[in-house]
Amino acid sequence: MNLMNKMLTAPAVVLALWAVNAQAANMDEEIAQRIQPVGQVCIQGEECKGVAAVAAPAAGGGAKSPDEVIAAHCGACHNSGVLGAPKTGDTAAWKERADTQGGLDGLLAKAISGINAMPPKGTCATCSDDELKGAIEKMSGL
Ligand code: HEC
Repeated sequence: MNLMNKMLTAPAVVLALWAVNAQAANMDEEIAQRIQPVGQVCIQGEECKGVAAVAAPAAGGGAKSPDEVIAAHCGACHNSGVLGAPKTGDTAAWKERADTQGGLDGLLAKAISGINAMPPKGTCATCSDDELKGAIEKMSGL
């Protein structure tokens, strides 16, 4: 009888130990989940788990062409000369400005900072310097 008892209780003890162990393992997982970082840095070019495509800045067509920039932003004022803006195609008006303000780069600097009624970056906040310069070259013919 004594032997029988031992045979019955031994598996029970093993089972109990296993249960405690399993619970501890679960808790480790839960804790790991709870203390995991809120965000993870995913560097462009690296493969990052759980991050679908990290859009590259140029994704979706690359740089904006001068025509696109002008059509979407500059033309509203520069096509008709609103508020005294130098008109698209009026090269003489643009040249006068360029001559007194350090050439195309001088105009670009003003376009970036804004000047009087001309808003900073001509309202194209996402335009790069090159894209702005392209638009200025196209509008001025310089
Ligand atoms: C809200 C109207 C408006 C928009 C939009 C606008 N401009 Fe202008 N821009 C002006 C006005 C007005 C001037 C003349 C400012 C002055 O000299 O008083 C001007 C002047 C300029 C000049 C000459 C700056 C100088 O140094 O004399 C450049 C270059 C220029 N704009 C580029 C751009 C570009 C590029 C865009 C589009 C990305 C743009 N502008 C969009 C109104 C605008």
